[in-house]
Amino acid sequence: MSAQLITASLVQGAQSIVVFTGAGVSAESGLPTYRSGENALWSAANFERFANPRGYRSHLPASYEWYRQRALAAAAAQPNPAHVAIAQLAMLVHNLVVVTQNVDGLHARAGSPDIIELHGHLRTARCDRCEARVAWSDAPDEPVCHHCGGMLRPDVVMFEENLAEEALERARTAAASCDLLISVGTSNLIWPARELPILAHDAGANVLIVNTDFAGQPTGARFHHLSGRAGDVLPELVRLLAQPEAKL
Ligand code: APR
Repeated sequence: MSAQLITASLVQGAQSIVVFTGAGVSAESGLPTYRSGENALWSAANFERFANPRGYRSHLPASYEWYRQRALAAAAAQPNPAHVAIAQLAMLVHNLVVVTQNVDGLHARAGSPDIIELHGHLRTARCDRCEARVAWSDAPDEPVCHHCGGMLRPDVVMFEENLAEEALERARTAAASCDLLISVGTSNLIWPARELPILAHDAGANVLIVNTDFAGQPTGARFHHLSGRAGDVLPELVRLLAQPEAKL
């Protein structure tokens, strides 16, 4: 049996699925990942200037402009076949939640109905002082809040910041109670998100890892590795599942 068929039978047997995604799922939409590929976002210089609140604050206004350009690039990007396949998968199985580390909003634009954005999003900037939000498309040229004069910053979770507690708890509960977690396009390095596949596995679920590179990925009895680009692998999986005569 091919790896795809084995995978499709895993999905077919699952009642409750978590799709856990990272930047690799958006690579085929033309958005750079953080740590892979030639244009990786986290060059040493970018990491120092933009990754945590201290760096952000001390490198204004360049840091604000960097996030604004990322937000505009995300808004201009289109969901790719991987995002679309994940949205279609939700129609084919009983219960599916997308838990994403991505901030680009492409799962929602592809139509996934239930999405937990663990690391925030690039739809708005927010004031560090009064919490007022402004869409990046309307954001001022200077990182200054129009309401109170406070500092504007992206609505993402930076390093050294806490994830939204409710989002994290929902993601943990979903991982601990699913039959199958499909991890797509994440290096699976960053805590606490990286706990989720382990949490699912240790609670008895199968974990399917779809990636172009398996360095550092967890291994174990119920970890399955499927090599390939998300935009190739996931549509094929959905095609196999959607065949009405499919007996996998
Ligand atoms: N299909 C599948 N996987 C891919 C593809 C593709 N077309 N292209 C790249 N990948 C894989 C890479 O092999 C790598 O494992 O996607 C992963 C991207 O990893 P990272 O760049 O580390 O991105 P991510 O895992 O999302 O990072 C997690 O780190 O800096 C923080 O907050 C940031 O949310 C981010 C978190």
